[in-house]
Amino acid sequence: MCGIVGYIGKQKALPIILSGLERLEYRGYDSFGFCVFNSKPLLYKEVGKISLAKALAKIKSDGLIGIGHTRWATTGEVTKENAHPHSGCKEEIFVVHNGIIENYKQLKEKLIKEGHKFKSETDTEVIVHLIEKYFKDNLEKAVTRALKDIRGTYGLAVISVKDPDKIVAARLSSPLIIGVSEDEFLIASDPSAIITTTRQIIILEDNEVAVIKKDGLTILKEEKELKKEPEMIEWDIEQAEKGGYKHFMLKEIMEEPNVIEDAIRGRFILEEGNVKLGGLESVEKKLREINNIFLIGCGTAHYACKIGEYMFEEYADILSQSDFGSEFRYRKPIVDKKTASIFISQSGETADTLGCLKEMKEKGAMCLGITNVVGSSQSRETNAGVYTRSGPEIAVASTKAFIGQLTILAMITVYLGRQRNMSLTEGKEIVSALKKLPLMAKEILIQAEEIKKIAKKYNKYKDFFFIGRKYNYPIALEGALKLKEISYVHAEGVAGGELKHGPLALIDKNCPTIAICPTDAVYEKMISNIEEIKARKGPVIAIASKGNEEIKKIADEIIYIPKTLEILTPILSVIPLHLFAYYFADSLGCDVDKPKNLAKSVTVE
Ligand code: M6R
Repeated sequence: MCGIVGYIGKQKALPIILSGLERLEYRGYDSFGFCVFNSKPLLYKEVGKISLAKALAKIKSDGLIGIGHTRWATTGEVTKENAHPHSGCKEEIFVVHNGIIENYKQLKEKLIKEGHKFKSETDTEVIVHLIEKYFKDNLEKAVTRALKDIRGTYGLAVISVKDPDKIVAARLSSPLIIGVSEDEFLIASDPSAIITTTRQIIILEDNEVAVIKKDGLTILKEEKELKKEPEMIEWDIEQAEKGGYKHFMLKEIMEEPNVIEDAIRGRFILEEGNVKLGGLESVEKKLREINNIFLIGCGTAHYACKIGEYMFEEYADILSQSDFGSEFRYRKPIVDKKTASIFISQSGETADTLGCLKEMKEKGAMCLGITNVVGSSQSRETNAGVYTRSGPEIAVASTKAFIGQLTILAMITVYLGRQRNMSLTEGKEIVSALKKLPLMAKEILIQAEEIKKIAKKYNKYKDFFFIGRKYNYPIALEGALKLKEISYVHAEGVAGGELKHGPLALIDKNCPTIAICPTDAVYEKMISNIEEIKARKGPVIAIASKGNEEIKKIADEIIYIPKTLEILTPILSVIPLHLFAYYFADSLGCDVDKPKNLAKSVTVE
């Protein structure tokens, strides 16, 4: 999400750090900062974009060691104080960090009692205070000790004036690489930040700590030294920005398991069969009274709303209605004190959605948001809400953000359900199943090559249907939207039961259908729909549950997904559809990341 760059060596550190940070900005950052050691530390932070020329004209430094960071806010708003590096009470130790510290609130409370003074709202700041607390005379020892208190994920880099000739870096589930050159080393969260200086890199693995000095590098794991040889990366800048993938869209689909993991991280209270959503704490009491929810969003976010509607009604017993932002404006919603509205948006800047938010506020409804971009208009205008933490989404086609939205909706369902009639057992069951989803999502992505073959095989067809029922009806809509927006073929999502009311007239051997039919409450009905299609010679690609052998008798192609609870199936069933759309469009040579006529953020009504 955020970007880290560090340098130690024979050259001036500042220009190298700044140009590295500038190269990371393609991911859409909101603030940046660095700390370089001259005779004393030079700490600088700013909100907004980096202007290398401007920064270098303004700031002079001959320091040969430093760390820098571009922030994409997750915990705490976009402010100078929240930008990294963070320092402890004495401004002697400096930290840049990517990831999420789950137990930061507890740690912060304890550190404050011990006399530490905090300057920001971030989770990161606890790391530097912990290092300060444990520091005696050696930075890596203090870092290693501090990490023992931390629960969460991190890629971090630390420097200290009290142990000044080294950078200490550590990683757990957040990427960090070390660039190796003659008498100099760089660290970065992303190869694109350093490959103009060196292509020799060492990838830091989980639980490894690197001690980087200008004349040598030591990597420690459980305090024992490891031998690691640098490897050569051949990527050019453009490939590096995409993590080696051909397109951002593919990179973002491949990040879907991590998105689920980040969305749920630190948000479960397993023993209570419940979730902890900090962003809803302020409205907790009011939410208990709610008996009517409107869910509003556009495009893909609207399909998330539709799934939320099914979830809330089935598990939280709340009357729920979803609508497009662009249509809801023309309705006359009945709003009273027991009405809540939830606005879902990746960008938090979609004009149609924001317009509805304004109207619902005026009508006095509680307005909640599910947003990816911290500090966006939506997140500022809503009364409360939950961030998806999906990281920057660059491709115009929304993929990983949708997965984040569905994961949050499932958690809000548990939250609302447990406030009402959901039993402890049921709550526990959903929470445990959610925990297993990241691995299951990875299992689907392993089939990417198979899905690619299917997509190529079908890329001559010009019309597609996508069908599904219940939770997977909106997934049919999403699958069709994704295919049409990036490959320009006609695709229509239909509720399985609606086929015979009209669309069936179009089915023949030239019109394939993608049928989303996991083994759930509506499986038998979906099989009947597939039979209707097969009777008219329509080719069928089935998205079915692992272990379903019977489906082989009727479907032409099958993509298997792992079994999970019915409420969570859409989070898995959409993954093969994202891959299918991607490979289909790519095989036609389409400009996948920037489809014609479309924009990433639609800020006009
Ligand atoms: O930023 P938002 O989530 O509010 O954007 C909503 C839609 O514009 C967006 O989902 C759009 O439909 C995508 N191109 C779908 O892939």
